Amino acid sequence: MSNPVRIRVPQNLSLNQAINFCHRLWNDSSDAEQYEFDFGRMGHVEPFTMAYVANELKRYRATKADARFTATNYAAHSYPAHMGFFRAFGLGHGNKPGQALGSSSYIPITILPVAEVHKEADERFLNIGDVLEEKALRIAQLLVRQHEGKLVDTLTFAIREIMRNVVEHAESDFIEYCGQYWPSKGMVEVAILDVGKGVARGLQSNPYIVMSDDRDALQLALLPGISGKMYRGVKRRANDVWQNSGFGLYMTRRICGAGGSFFIVSNTAGMLFDNTGKHDRNTTYAGTALRLRFNTDAILDHDNMLDQFRKEGYATARTLSGAEAIEPSMASVMLARDFDGDR
Ligand SMILES: Nc1ncnc2c1ncn2[C@@H]1O[C@H](COP(=O)(O)OP(=O)(O)OP(=O)(O)O)[C@@H](O)[C@H]1O
Ligand SMILES: [Mg+2]
Repeated sequence: MSNPVRIRVPQNLSLNQAINFCHRLWNDSSDAEQYEFDFGRMGHVEPFTMAYVANELKRYRATKADARFTATNYAAHSYPAHMGFFRAFGLGHGNKPGQALGSSSYIPITILPVAEVHKEADERFLNIGDVLEEKALRIAQLLVRQHEGKLVDTLTFAIREIMRNVVEHAESDFIEYCGQYWPSKGMVEVAILDVGKGVARGLQSNPYIVMSDDRDALQLALLPGISGKMYRGVKRRANDVWQNSGFGLYMTRRICGAGGSFFIVSNTAGMLFDNTGKHDRNTTYAGTALRLRFNTDAILDHDNMLDQFRKEGYATARTLSGAEAIEPSMASVMLARDFDGDR
């Protein structure tokens, strides 16, 4: 048998390096009998890039069903092993996704089957949004080691909105998430990924939207009031606080914009918003993946912050669509716990 094609995972799995590594992976059109993933140089890893690269390695393997895959130099990597990184693409080393009991400051790669969310909602007579809000609250509490408060509320809201998008729009079999809190840096990172159809196809059901590629689709989806499921002519259900209004991604991006950063990938396009502005990335992913980074010192007043973003969002939506602008629905701008009146 010929020598295996060696695929070296880079030393620093920062966002740019992870994206570039995946480009190299897919650009190599070799058709070998054997491939070897070499983790010898891998040093710095982050929750999002770990989950992202693991999904890409898994998909790469799946496209070469007849080839043999081996791995070297992985044994010394205890943090990614603990986070479920190796198991996530099928290497029998370390914890399975979700197996490590998330310690106080991190959550390992965890797979939440969408079917389980539906089942739980049915059994408890709850809406999907309520079920996901509970799960998001638990994740937020575990990460920041606080039971309640503004930080927990803000994280819960953002995590819930991104998870809800997976269930409502992605047609993915699972929601994947992981995260880490660095108290000394005042930073929380939450990664939420799916392997669904991507934002462009999510928006396609809105007949008023014209877009030519994944980048266009992301640009539009991030605007307030743009939704694949709510547009002129769709009946508003007065009693359904969870009805889509196109505010989830907008609100989440604004929250992360308060001293943190927001990164979204959908198939071939990625967009990073950080303190230096907006940056486009070409990507190779299959599905939608988000990295939310929160500055814990900047999240001072959850209610006022969300209220301000909602007002500004609606004003922007009106300048975009005039009288046709879609008003933000209650759910996508606040926590269910805080809703007024009957539901
Ligand atoms: N994970 C995803 N997979 C596929 N499409 C998505 C995904 N996330 C968002 N989208 C698309 O982007 C659009 C905008 O998302 P956003 O969360 O801002 O609004 P919404 O979900 O439609 O409404 P709301 O969040 O206010 O309930 C969605 O309507 C959908 O078409
Ligand atoms: Mg949404």
